[in-house]
Amino acid sequence: MLKLILSIYFSLSSCYCKNPLVEKLVDYSNNLQGFLVHPVIQKQIPKRPAIIIFHAFTGRTEFENEKARSLAKLGYVAFAADTYGKTGSTETIEGNFEIMKHILGNRTTILRERILAAWTFINSLDFVDSNRIGSIGYCYGGLCSLDLARFEIGLKAAVSFHGTLLKYPEESENLKNISCAIQAHHGDLDIHTNNEEASNFIEEMRNRSMDWQFLRYSNAEHAFTLFGVDDFKIPGASYNEKASNRSWSYMQVFLAEKLL
Ligand SMILES: *[C@@H]1O[C@H](CO)[C@@H](O)[C@H](O)[C@H]1NC(C)=O
Ligand SMILES: *[C@@H]1O[C@H](CO)[C@@H](O)[C@H](O)[C@H]1NC(C)=O
Ligand SMILES: *[C@@H]1O[C@H](CO)[C@@H](O)[C@H](O)[C@H]1NC(C)=O
Ligand SMILES: *[C@@H]1O[C@H](CO)[C@@H](O)[C@H](O)[C@H]1NC(C)=O
Repeated sequence: MLKLILSIYFSLSSCYCKNPLVEKLVDYSNNLQGFLVHPVIQKQIPKRPAIIIFHAFTGRTEFENEKARSLAKLGYVAFAADTYGKTGSTETIEGNFEIMKHILGNRTTILRERILAAWTFINSLDFVDSNRIGSIGYCYGGLCSLDLARFEIGLKAAVSFHGTLLKYPEESENLKNISCAIQAHHGDLDIHTNNEEASNFIEEMRNRSMDWQFLRYSNAEHAFTLFGVDDFKIPGASYNEKASNRSWSYMQVFLAEKLL
């Protein structure tokens, strides 16, 4: 019996060792650079579900790359996308806020193209099951994740963490129903995306979406999942470990239900 248990133990652990993650930087579209991570593709599982990760105001950083690794460990093909461009993000908060403002000011053109570029890239991978693609995003990236759902192009699940919840500017887009399932995590004390914007978002979802879930965290400010954000000293933005942990757990349940 012990021998059996040991042999099961060793086959599982060696199976784990034989399945490391594959990681690479990917240049795609026009000057964008993303980070792709996935389990080694095996014959038994030729197609896998995939998740696009949209970055916060900082541009793609180790934070998003690490989220991609965590998702790959759960069995997804994970792609930390880029919407700033290879030479985009700066070292300073002010610089990154400027870029973000410029791109958000061009939400229906520049940003839309860059969000769709990530979608096109992930769809081009022959080991991705194009019927099982989801997206997640942080702050500004939450808006990107929700916009991809609004584009109604076949995304199955979209998650926003303390995302910007503003409606899409074009009336025609506003009229379309959203068939993608949506999960939004919001800090109750968020002053960057305040509770009025949150209410408008819920109204938009009531009007347009058949499957949405809105989770609100007590005592959580903006950027509550961004470990280290306190160092930036941005008013109204702070890490909240409990809200961060819970939102990540609930995201896993939601994505598994829709994509695994
Ligand atoms: C939109 O992009 C154009 C071209 O890059 C730029 O000139 C303009 O200032 C941007 N709009 C906003 C509102 O930032
Ligand atoms: C929801 O639909 C109602 C009725 O059509 C409309 O008046 C309202 O502006 C919509 N709200 C949002 C946030 O889209
Ligand atoms: C869009 O979704 C709303 C809310 O779920 C629903 O009442 C309405 O019938 C849908 N409209 C269309 C055109 O499917
Ligand atoms: C959050 O998760 C980490 C890692 O699992 C754990 O060490 C920590 O105690 C958790 N904190 C809270 C407040 O839940």
